[in-house]
Amino acid sequence: MPTRYPTLMLFHIVINALLMPELETELCQLEAIPDGGSKEFYPNGEALFAVRQGSEVFVYRNSCPHTGMPLNWQPDRFFDVEKKFIQCAVHAAIFQPDTGLCVAGPCSGESLTAIPCEVKSGSVFVHLPTSP
Ligand code: FES
Repeated sequence: MPTRYPTLMLFHIVINALLMPELETELCQLEAIPDGGSKEFYPNGEALFAVRQGSEVFVYRNSCPHTGMPLNWQPDRFFDVEKKFIQCAVHAAIFQPDTGLCVAGPCSGESLTAIPCEVKSGSVFVHLPTSP
């Protein structure tokens, strides 16, 4: 089976690309997200938020794995008081900003849904799946 793994992996990538094409969408300029902070976005009606750590940006669906409720305390506010973790405003689960992993709270061990993103020429882009 190990010798088949690269072939199966390539097959999986090709099938996903064919069945779930992605739409690249520009969210904003990098500077629009405060360093160490967060910001909400609604591209194509999707509720997302981005967190920035220097030149790195991580984007997640604004949906807590515990109940599906939005996580933010106020508009664009997703971090705890110390600005160390993303914290859900409903039952206070906390998540690592760079992985989305819940490290404490009712959904400990689950993760936020990460959205593929990249910073190009000073702008933040996300790759959203399109409907087939
Ligand atoms: S809804 Fe987020 S911790 Fe309960």
